[in-house]
Amino acid sequence: MKSKPRIYLDHAATSWPKPESVYLAVNDAMRTLGAAAGRGAYAESLRADQVISQLRRQIATLVNAPNPSGVVFAANGTAALNLAIAGLFGSLHSPVPHVVTTAAEHNSVLRPLRAMADHQRVEMTIVPCDSEGKVDADQVLAAVGKETRLVAVGHASNVTAAIQPIAAIGSQLRNHPALFLVDAAQTFGYLPIDVQEAGIDLLATAGHKGALGPLGTGALCVSPQAEPQIAASVWGGTGGNSDQLTMPTCLPQRLEAGNLNVPALAGWLAGLQWLQQNQTSQQHLHQLAQRFDQGLAEIEGIQVWGAGSPLPVRSFVSQQLSPADFAAVLEAEFGVQVRTGLHCAALIHPYLGTTSDGTVRLSAGHLSRSEEVDVAINAIAQVVAGL
Ligand SMILES: Cc1ncc(COP(=O)(O)O)c(C=O)c1O
Repeated sequence: MKSKPRIYLDHAATSWPKPESVYLAVNDAMRTLGAAAGRGAYAESLRADQVISQLRRQIATLVNAPNPSGVVFAANGTAALNLAIAGLFGSLHSPVPHVVTTAAEHNSVLRPLRAMADHQRVEMTIVPCDSEGKVDADQVLAAVGKETRLVAVGHASNVTAAIQPIAAIGSQLRNHPALFLVDAAQTFGYLPIDVQEAGIDLLATAGHKGALGPLGTGALCVSPQAEPQIAASVWGGTGGNSDQLTMPTCLPQRLEAGNLNVPALAGWLAGLQWLQQNQTSQQHLHQLAQRFDQGLAEIEGIQVWGAGSPLPVRSFVSQQLSPADFAAVLEAEFGVQVRTGLHCAALIHPYLGTTSDGTVRLSAGHLSRSEEVDVAINAIAQVVAGL
């Protein structure tokens, strides 16, 4: 039996394919760079340093961060968020600091905060979202009090693609001592982000989704205001100050113990360069999002989330078939690969009415083709028609 072409629509988990230049950069780094960054004085190690510095600069420029040394690399978006949360609340404080977050967050925000709350490190207020997964800026700000030290909000929901009002929240927090942490895992590389304009103190992101890097990449951008407040939560070698048993005080070294994944970071750099050279990809993404909206709106018998979002991410459910079964048919019959279930977002589903089985999530990316979206829409329509 001839196998069906792979229609990959799970870019919200990780993007694939990557631009050819990303594969080449990883390959080249593994074959010819072959050295740890920040640890050697020989040619290859210095070249590895250059790749890392260039990537820090590229990320800082992309999000308008004031200083590339505030760009700290992590293994993924989750590790970047943990660096921020554990770095702020790893030790006991009195009075117990208060944190505001929302029901639309990914578990990589909610679980570290919950772990901190379980150890009396923080008290947490979780602001609700609406039935589209959208949070209200006024509600978030109303939850902020005198003891609030952190407000943590995702830029976009990974379930419904709702874009959150981060600039409205950040601008109001400017004169409040609370830091503003934004989880940009779903938007970095897809939507513009300006950390200074939006009043963001800590921007955590994955590098392997919209920013087209390999898996195993992520970063935390730390503002000068936040810098003194984030302690190390992982300790080890940094390639310098080796006579001391404490971590260096400067960034990024304070938060980057151990060797960086140089080949993956070289690939991420190539991904960002591709984005820079292919700015029309933003229009392509909008077109894919509109194509989802037009196609899904014509299919009766499914409930859809995300209509109108600029991100090409949509969730849906059918009354007749569970998300898991729906996805299994999509792959078996049509080669369409999607994600199902709760999407690591524990608290959003009661607001969507999808608590038991979650949703089917379709997510396209920069290198998705319009025809792939059409195949998926057609496949969903055929499955629904056969129910
Ligand atoms: C909104 C959001 N935050 C954080 C993460 C975690 O990113 P990573 O998979 O790189 O750990 C994800 C991953 O899907 C996400 O969608």
